[in-house]
Amino acid sequence: MSDRAEALRTDVRSGFSAAQKWLPAKWFYDARGSALFEDITRLPEYYPTRAERETLAREAGEIARVTGAGTLVELGSGSSEKTRLLLDGLRAHGTLRTFVPLDVSASALDEAVAAIRADYPGLEVHGVVRDFTEDLGLLPGEPPRLVAFLGGTIGNFLPAERIKFLRSVRAVLAEGEWLLLGTDLVKDPETLVRAYDDAAGVTAEFNRNMLRVVNDLLGADFDPGAFAHEAYWDAEREWIEMRLRATEETTVHIPGAGMTVHFAEGEYIRTEISAKFRAGGVAAELAESGFAVERWWTDAERRFGVSLSRAVREG
Ligand code: SAH
Ligand code: AVI
Repeated sequence: MSDRAEALRTDVRSGFSAAQKWLPAKWFYDARGSALFEDITRLPEYYPTRAERETLAREAGEIARVTGAGTLVELGSGSSEKTRLLLDGLRAHGTLRTFVPLDVSASALDEAVAAIRADYPGLEVHGVVRDFTEDLGLLPGEPPRLVAFLGGTIGNFLPAERIKFLRSVRAVLAEGEWLLLGTDLVKDPETLVRAYDDAAGVTAEFNRNMLRVVNDLLGADFDPGAFAHEAYWDAEREWIEMRLRATEETTVHIPGAGMTVHFAEGEYIRTEISAKFRAGGVAAELAESGFAVERWWTDAERRFGVSLSRAVREG
């Protein structure tokens, strides 16, 4: 069994034994899931990518000036499309030598690395296939390093995991190095729900792809068509919850996890949370994790926040 299948087996065993069934969002991203995410970024309803791009295009020069980064590390890099704005800004500033994209999706990473190597001759590109919730390890490249975590992916962690993750990023940085963090902002529920339940049904396919990944890696017999996509806005916790709800009573065999799982009609699996933030909350969580916010920007419509923080002495 591959390491990836073993990791999924562990998550399936614990997630499907819980009173509320759930799986971690990282299991969306095989080659098909990564391609579906790229389709999502182009949907009229999915504003986060465009809103973050607007800010990065406006502020890339300032980010380069403030950080003078020699290395750009990108966590959950995916296609690294928007990241090109940062690469351009840092190259124009004359400091950037190394780019280190890191992603759990080997297919997305391979494509991005090949495209960036072709378009940025002379730039050292080290792609790393890794789960960023595990040990981040030694990040290659010369200081000062700038770690970018874009797209609002920080919102896909539960709140307690978020702080743990930010601390783990702080732990691999030296004092004075940098974190650029994209955070989607709280807004009216209609806009939010539409972004996660688009008219063309692309997000529904992305959501169901998780069942296909379980089928592929663990030999399960999920019928993805028997699960309905839902995007639910939890107003109290200020997050979107993506769910897959069984449209009929069904039994699923998962040989790779040694499990048979029963779903009652209407029972759902929680596949993702996507937390939405307020500026004060982002600054507080960063401070709790050893970072000081030096810049805070949004797009013109204030839909999406981008913060640039410096690693400070802890304790
Ligand atoms: N940063 C890009 C992609 C966001 S999609 C953007 O802003 O558009 C989220 C990315 O994070 C995907 O490429 C996915 O494969 C990656 N990812 C999700 N969970 C991960 C994990 N635990 N470790 C590493 N990468 C992960
Ligand atoms: C990667 N992440 C920030 C996306 C989000 O918006 O939470 C994943 C996604 N889920 C549904 N659509 C997009």
